[in-house]
Amino acid sequence: MPLTTIESIAALRALLDARRAAGASVGFVPTMGYLHAGHASLMGAASNGADVVVASVFVNPLQFAPTEDLEAYPRDLARDTALAEECGVDVLFVPSVEEMYPEAVRTTVSVSGVSTVLEGRARPTHFDGVATVVAKLFAIVGPCRAYFGEKDFQQLAVIRQMVRDLSIPVEVVGCPTVREPDGLAMSSRNAYLTPEERAAAPVVHDALEQGRLTVLDGARDAATVRAVMLARLAEEPLGVVDYAEVVDAGTFEVPDPLQGTLRLLAAVRFGRARLIDNVGVEVGGALASNPVDSA
Ligand code: PAJ
Repeated sequence: MPLTTIESIAALRALLDARRAAGASVGFVPTMGYLHAGHASLMGAASNGADVVVASVFVNPLQFAPTEDLEAYPRDLARDTALAEECGVDVLFVPSVEEMYPEAVRTTVSVSGVSTVLEGRARPTHFDGVATVVAKLFAIVGPCRAYFGEKDFQQLAVIRQMVRDLSIPVEVVGCPTVREPDGLAMSSRNAYLTPEERAAAPVVHDALEQGRLTVLDGARDAATVRAVMLARLAEEPLGVVDYAEVVDAGTFEVPDPLQGTLRLLAAVRFGRARLIDNVGVEVGGALASNPVDSA
């Protein structure tokens, strides 16, 4: 089926209602566009898991603070359309800001706990904006399954919590982080990097890997793991560290001693680009394999 691009909520609902009435299941991949291989992996997973695949491209103003990069955020709908079609997307939903937010926004979704640390501390209004738009997109699309990347691990946790708390009838599927060959996590914001910053940026994944190996080597206090990551990050003066932390992968609290399923997360600024990345590790896990984050 060739890809159909739809801009209106009513037209999308009409199309999907007809497909559902005919027995089709709907899979959904929300994005902000400027698609890359990370997005493509979610779209591929969706087309394996549902009859009709809907992807959205919407740069959501609610999740950007006034000081952030809403205006500069990269956009290329022609390229996105071609990539989405290649990945088996049936319907590309590209609403305008007026279509999504025709009036002042009075109703928002706020997930406490997991939204308040790390990214939530650095970007205090961000996760309310994400939860609100994703809840709205779920209400518009009505998917059986929705696909999110582990690249934004805290976002994935926020969405899972929201779906549980609000009993939204959707299965949230988390997909592994897709990386460049040198380890840099793919991101639309990598487009902001100068050649020098691009050369330095793989230090983020490298620092997380060193933190992971430190846990596997037996470190059981967060301060030691944090220090290893910060020391590696300090080797690249172009990177300004926002945070480098190790937390429980479920609660996002820092366990003392470190135990269970952990996530190491970092946010580092390189010029205009604020990059985030994370890896998983199991305390007592084998050095050779990483059961939580194999990508
Ligand atoms: P965006 O940054 O465009 O990402 C869309 C989806 O792609 C998210 O689930 C994200 O985690 C996933 N993704 C991004 N880079 C990835 C990578 N390298 N590997 C695997 N998956 C990756 O995240 C958002 O948009 C927005 O916050 C959104 C959920 C659409 C709400 O506006």
